[in-house]
Amino acid sequence: MSVPAGKGHSQPTIFFIFGGTGDLTSRKLIPALYNLFLDGWMPKNFAIVAMGRTEFTDEQFRNELLKDINQFSRSGKAKKEKWDVFSDRVYFQVSDIKDAKTYKEQGERIAKFTAEAGEEPNVIYYLAVAPRFFATIAENLSKHNLAANPDKARLVIEKPFGHDLESAKELNKLLGGIFSERQIYRIDHYLGKETVQNILAFRFANSILEPIWNRNYIDHVQISVTEQLGVGDRGGYYDESGAMRDMVQNHILQLLCLVAMEPPVSFEADEVRNRKVDVLNSMRKFAPEDIQKNAVRGQYSKGWMEGKEVPGYREEPGVNPESNTETFAAVKFFIDNWRWHGIPFYLRTGKRMHQSSSVITIQFKDVPHLIFPAGATEGWQQNRLIISIQPEMSIRLQVQAKRPGLDMILNPVDMVFDYKGTYTGDTPEAYETLLLDTMQGDQTLFMRGDQVEAAWDLLMPILNAWAAKKSLSFPNYSADSWGPEVAEALIAKDGFHWFTLPLKNEKK
Ligand code: BG6
Repeated sequence: MSVPAGKGHSQPTIFFIFGGTGDLTSRKLIPALYNLFLDGWMPKNFAIVAMGRTEFTDEQFRNELLKDINQFSRSGKAKKEKWDVFSDRVYFQVSDIKDAKTYKEQGERIAKFTAEAGEEPNVIYYLAVAPRFFATIAENLSKHNLAANPDKARLVIEKPFGHDLESAKELNKLLGGIFSERQIYRIDHYLGKETVQNILAFRFANSILEPIWNRNYIDHVQISVTEQLGVGDRGGYYDESGAMRDMVQNHILQLLCLVAMEPPVSFEADEVRNRKVDVLNSMRKFAPEDIQKNAVRGQYSKGWMEGKEVPGYREEPGVNPESNTETFAAVKFFIDNWRWHGIPFYLRTGKRMHQSSSVITIQFKDVPHLIFPAGATEGWQQNRLIISIQPEMSIRLQVQAKRPGLDMILNPVDMVFDYKGTYTGDTPEAYETLLLDTMQGDQTLFMRGDQVEAAWDLLMPILNAWAAKKSLSFPNYSADSWGPEVAEALIAKDGFHWFTLPLKNEKK
């Protein structure tokens, strides 16, 4: 979320990526850094050091990356002159994270880079590794005095941040003993998405919304993040995690916070994050007897997706054939504060669903009195504001309008702000935004320690109840469906239904 003046202004920076041969590095991190470079956002002096055990030379590693860039970069195939300049600053350090030699060599690289740059650089350690390695790396960085300057050294941590409240607290404690909070960047890539950042702009840069943004005018809120993909080759990780930990604890609760938060006093990182923590702290925690009524789970069975047969979750590689892990979760939450008292927030997420889309729907209350004859209002629908995060990037306000003609017939129409129609050019990827923020020391879009703990605290009753009681109905939804029936029932009993954005706009 950088201000324009920041362009090219960042200080010399050296990036160390632990997990340098992993998928995240090749698909997201390097393409993001490369695109920042193309767009002139990288500092004049930078170096990227990927760490890993494979015996790559710098040259071999760069050749591997070039293939990845050609495949994954939003700017398409690399242009030779640009790629040569960029890749010249990418290095590979053959390393073992348990070995003191690794950290000694990092120290030497930093000293050399500092001498060349003529000033102390920002040093960013990106932990793109499995969580079980976080502690080893953090402790070694501290032991080798590699993160001593809190103004310069930063640690970027990928999710999952903890497996439950206890482990998240432990990790926070461990990191807090070594680094100051302003050095710790807990990534939630949803916060870097263009449309997600726009929720803040939309809410707090427009005066017309605030008066109606509360329980007096809003009837309920839905946040739906559905994916067509299954777990693919991530079965090993996912089976220990599940939809609630993988998506709700982080991405979806963050979206909820952005919709529900009070206006921050300023755009300062801690101001924004304080208001988000307030939301999490005011969310109603479930007593054991409330869980079944408010939280439902699902697991996909095999089926057909776009003409191809796909395996059920329990048949996926790395997954226990009797797994009790949920690949779908839906929850109805309440926020116990003045703004939202009594307004349900319905969240749902699932894999192998009929459509891939992330959509927030805010449904407004109905008109107090209907003046039109029954025949005019057959297609009647309450006003809705629909924030579509992906794949469509848009904000739609659905209002009732008179259909052209001699009779009075009403139907809902959309007033649309659509990124494609409004702006030209490519939208930066979430990781570009977040990596730039890391270089510029802006923590607004990163999770603070207390935020992560508050999110775990909220979910623990559900997670514990689900762990204690196996679902006897799993698998309970088939691939290419909208999830299990229990999810329809969860919302239908309140008189609502899950909202999906039509893929194409049909003329009315
Ligand atoms: C990740 C989850 O954090 O987010 C994945 O671990 C999920 O399971 C992904 O598929 C979704 O991200 P996006 O950006 O594709 O919506």
